[in-house]
Amino acid sequence: MKAGIFITGTDTDVGKTVVAAGLAMVLKDRGIKVGVMKPVATGCYGDDGRLVSQDAAFLMEAAQNEYPPLSSPFRFRNALSPNVAAMLEKKEVNVARILESYRELQKIYDFIIVEGVGGLMVPLKKDYYVANLVRDMQLPLVIVSYAGLGAINHTLLTVDAAVIRGLELRGIIFNRVSVTNYSLAELTNPKVIHDLSGVPILGSLPEIEGLNMDSFQFGRLKEVFQERIQTGKILGGFTDFAPKK
Ligand SMILES: Nc1ncnc2c1ncn2[C@@H]1O[C@H](COP(=O)(O)OP(=O)(O)OP(=O)(O)O)[C@@H](O)[C@H]1O
Ligand SMILES: [Mg+2]
Repeated sequence: MKAGIFITGTDTDVGKTVVAAGLAMVLKDRGIKVGVMKPVATGCYGDDGRLVSQDAAFLMEAAQNEYPPLSSPFRFRNALSPNVAAMLEKKEVNVARILESYRELQKIYDFIIVEGVGGLMVPLKKDYYVANLVRDMQLPLVIVSYAGLGAINHTLLTVDAAVIRGLELRGIIFNRVSVTNYSLAELTNPKVIHDLSGVPILGSLPEIEGLNMDSFQFGRLKEVFQERIQTGKILGGFTDFAPKK
């Protein structure tokens, strides 16, 4: 049984961390021992050797996790593609170490939420993309997208990149969707994307008031996620909540 999900996006800044954090809180509420992972993070801050990934920190706060080195094995200061940041910082992403950290987290938690970097075709190192990592981790995917103008192209490209590589798609979540004064594009795109791709639409999140990653404020993220996202479809067949010994 695959006990986890990989959260990717159509782009950077689209809401992967927010979706992953919302999911973590909802699953935790259901009594699932949920772990989080941001295997490669760029744009980190802090002293050399003690770089902090804001995404990993926010996810760990959402899931109340305790093992930062396992959850965030590769951190880079430069807000660049990981392959370029790694070159500038004279480091290298080591996939075996990511998989080892993942396996360690699996011993501690029952369900692991993994956030990607940017989108599926972001290079982590030479000839190795985020999509390769999804495959190596053997995880199904959720795509986070926006719903406005341009979303059809970006979402279908991401779906294609996943399908070509044999990745399993659990569904698409639209983020920051307007609840009033929505555009015609926002209104019609989710159905068009579903009809053209055949991928399930899991729901959409509106702008969450009071959500602030810098100050670890979640606003009503958990409640809104619970109301608007089909969490059961993300879990797939995962129903084994038996506590780890
Ligand atoms: N539904 C939302 N309501 C309010 N703010 C949001 C929402 N979704 C995203 N944001 C804000 O937008 C910014 C980008 O979101 P987020 O960090 O989740 O994107 P990302 O896809 O994880 O980006 P990255 O590629 O850097 O990992 C963050 O500051 C976040 O707080
Ligand atoms: Mg993020």
